[in-house]
This record gives sequence, C-alpha cells and structure tokens, in this order.
Amino acid sequence: MRGLFFISTLGSLASGFAMPNFPVKGHEWIPAGPQDSRSPCPGINVLANHGYLPRNGKNIDLPTLQNAVAAAYNYAPNTFDDVFAQVQAMQLSTTGNISTFNLADVTKHGYMEFDGSLSRNDFYFGDAQHFDPKIWATMVERLALNKVTKDPMSKYVTIETAAKARAARVADAMKANPTFNASALEVQGSPGTTALYLTTLWDDSVGAAPKEWIKMFFEFERLPFTKPKTQKTNTDIGNMFAKVQAVQV
Ligand code: HEM
Ligand SMILES: *[C@@H]1O[C@H](CO)[C@@H](O)[C@H](O)[C@H]1NC(C)=O
Ligand SMILES: *[C@@H]1O[C@H](CO)[C@@H](O)[C@H](O)[C@H]1NC(C)=O
Repeated sequence: MRGLFFISTLGSLASGFAMPNFPVKGHEWIPAGPQDSRSPCPGINVLANHGYLPRNGKNIDLPTLQNAVAAAYNYAPNTFDDVFAQVQAMQLSTTGNISTFNLADVTKHGYMEFDGSLSRNDFYFGDAQHFDPKIWATMVERLALNKVTKDPMSKYVTIETAAKARAARVADAMKANPTFNASALEVQGSPGTTALYLTTLWDDSVGAAPKEWIKMFFEFERLPFTKPKTQKTNTDIGNMFAKVQAVQV
C-alpha cells in the first residue's frame, strides 16, 4: 500500500499535476490568474474556477449562468435569473453589452456589494472584492470550522451557529467601519448570503453543512462535491432564509 501510494504520488508530481482534483472532465479546479475577472461572490467565482462559467470570468450571459448553476450546484436553471436581472437594472455591466457582465462588475460598492461580508473586508478599508483571511478568521472561530471532536455533529455547521456568526460579523463591521451603512439592501442581503451558502452546501442526510465544504468553498473557491443529487430551487433558498432570520441573535 505504502509503496503504491509513493509511486502514484511521484507519478503525479512528474506529470506536473496534483492528483486529478475534480472528476468532471474540463471542470478541474484552476484558480484565477491575474487577467481573469472575479467578484466578491464566492458562488460565482467557484463556477469560473471550475470552468462552468468562462474561466476568464468575462462576458457572462443569462443562459451561461443558468447552465452553470444547474451543472455545478444542481440549482434549477432559473434560480438566479432575478439576480442577473438586478445586475442589468443596476447597470453594473462594463462589457458594452447589457446582456452580459464580467464577474468584477458586481464589486461596485453600495449596489450588490455591501458592508459586513463574511469573507471580505468593507469597501471603506480598501478591498471588498478579494477573500480576506483576517476577516474570515473571525468566521472560522465562530463557526468552529477547525474544531472537530468525537461528536460526529462537530463536523457540521448548523443554521443556528451560522446565523449567530453572521450577526456577530456584521456587529464587528459596524464597530470597525465609521461609514458602515445598514441600508435596506444590507439588511436583506446579509442573511441572504448566509442562506445561500447553507443551501448550496447543505448535506440533506445530516441536516447541516459540512465544515470541510464551507472551508473549500470560501477559502479556495473550489467545489467540494460533484453535482448534488436533488435539485434546489428559489423555494429552498427562501425556506433557508426564513430559518436563518428566525434565529435569535
Ligand atoms: C448572478 C449570480 C450572482 C451574483 C451576481 C452574485 C453576486 C454577489 C455579490 C455582489 C456578493 C457580495 C455581497 C457582499 O458584499 O457581501 C455576493 C456574495 C455572496 N454570494 Fe453571490 N452572486 C450570485 C450567485 C451566487 C451563487 C450561485 C451563490 C452560491 C452558490 C452565491 C453565494 C454568495 C455568498 C455565500 C456570498 C457572501 C460572501 C461573503 O459574505 O463573504 N452567490 N454575491
Ligand atoms: C450581446 O450578448 C448577447 C448574449 O450573449 C448576444 O446574443 C449578442 O449577440 C451580444 N450583442 C452584441 C452586439 O455583441
Ligand atoms: C454608504 O456610505 C458611503 C460612505 O459614507 C456612501 O458613499 C454610500 O453612498 C453609502 N451607500 C449606501 C448604499 O447607502
């Protein structure tokens, strides 16, 4: 066994690749290069990192988005049609074609991008687009992502834990950022993104989200699974949103 492991490890090093990292051909995980467009949203960055959206993150139209969320996450294709329409209504596109957008277009502060993100710092501090390890460390602590004990449930994040961690993160941001604005968008959007990652990374058989999946999704913008078996819809996101909102924080 040991010998075999060594040989296959060396083999993969020699060929210049790590172990095959994703079983769907053409959809391997390749992080963005310097010319690629990315967003403050891990959900769509993951899709580009796996080639479900164009890997350069550019000129994305609605059918492309629909196919991507269906193929990678098993969302009903129309699940994010409203979000796409919002990008258009807010006139965020810089592609010169209102039917398409670049991932970085949604970074513009005070439109879709808002303060108190889970894994990004606030615009006031300079960069609301890229993953911020110091901000995320506060979430890792509150979600206890690195704390796994003998209790099998310690491998999972519950809705209650996620809801409390989100509220605490927003409270941190309000304290740190003198320009923090709790607009209507913020009030809706923040529990919304928590509902979104929980729904996307939900393990139905357990009724919680695996910590390993949450880490891969946020820290590496990488798919932690191949397509889930059961399709998810806007109703599922809405139900999760209601449960997140119902937690006393
Ligand atoms: C058209 C499709 C989408 C657009 C335009 C979009 C846009 C955005 C934007 C602008 C943000 C930043 C909000 C903030 O400032 O915190 C965001 C955050 C987020 N999005 Fe998306 N999104 C889309 C689809 C998705 C999908 C499919 C998922 C899940 C698979 C997702 C999960 C998230 C999560 C978890 C956050 C919060 C990140 C954080 O707070 O650190 N989004 N999205
Ligand atoms: C704009 O994008 C749409 C959707 O991809 C495409 O069908 C259309 O041809 C594009 N228009 C121009 C002028 O390039
Ligand atoms: C948030 O605050 C900043 C700085 O005070 C301001 O420029 C911006 O317009 C505000 N955004 C919203 C959505 O209220």
